Amino acid sequence: MNMLVLGATGATGRHLTNFLIDSGHQITIVVRSPEKLPAAVKDASNVKVVKGTVLKMNDEALDQLLNNCDVVFSCLGHNLTLKGMYGHPRKLVTDTALRIVKFFADNKRETPVKYVLMNTTGNVNKLAGEKVSLMERIVVSIIRVLVPPHVDNEKAAEVFSKDVGGNSDDIEWVAVRPDSLIDAKVVTEYSLFQSPQRSAIFNSGKTSRINVAHFMKELGTNDKLWEKWNGQMPVIYNND
Ligand SMILES: NC(=O)c1ccc[n+]([C@@H]2O[C@H](COP(=O)([O-])OP(=O)(O)OC[C@H]3O[C@@H](n4cnc5c(N)ncnc54)[C@H](OP(=O)(O)O)[C@@H]3O)[C@@H](O)[C@H]2O)c1
Repeated sequence: MNMLVLGATGATGRHLTNFLIDSGHQITIVVRSPEKLPAAVKDASNVKVVKGTVLKMNDEALDQLLNNCDVVFSCLGHNLTLKGMYGHPRKLVTDTALRIVKFFADNKRETPVKYVLMNTTGNVNKLAGEKVSLMERIVVSIIRVLVPPHVDNEKAAEVFSKDVGGNSDDIEWVAVRPDSLIDAKVVTEYSLFQSPQRSAIFNSGKTSRINVAHFMKELGTNDKLWEKWNGQMPVIYNND
């Protein structure tokens, strides 16, 4: 299969890229700074590196990028700098998803493309009936004002949960929701749930980025797992 990874230079995206390289699929990564990539990625025979961003590339380049693509993985996130948090593009994750969804709506395929979005437990899936306490709602409202990337994560998930929904012939999707992200070197046991099991604000759990990457890779390469989570927003926690 042909797979596209966005955010491959990021802390989660680089694990995902490594897993996909090992899986033997054909991988394309779009990165702003190819020099950040390790030699093992740049030299891998099944990796194509495209310099740029989905938001800035012209229609022809987007067509080349997506016309043979079977699975899109987004590990995009705002850099934790003033420019990354408050500069443009404010809706990096959302606008990237919107552009790709529009491409597949305009360019029909025989089988739907899969989109695996890295999201967050801070994003409540209201369509699934999830509720949080009044205090948590107040805190999240403040976060929305002070931390624009949070709104971007919420809107990005809505591109799929509201706009695409569950009946698109063009695109299928899963939005993976880790809790507080931590770094680890190896994959450990993790658990998946349809909805958060604890407060993302007042009692968050831990999720290793490498575990998120592992689950995303499994979603994109294992049809049974895809069928289980298609159109949902699974929450992932480390077991330990
Ligand atoms: N922090 C948490 O506890 C937590 C919890 C749950 C979910 N999340 C979410 O998880 C996601 C990924 O997390 P992470 O730690 O793996 O992220 P990360 O290490 O910051 O990686 C972000 C990726 O996005 C790319 N990027 C940033 N700004 C860009 C732009 N303007 N145009 C194109 N690409 C851009 C970066 O590219 P460059 O290398 O070129 O900068 C990098 O590849 C984020 O959306 C975050 O909100 C975070």
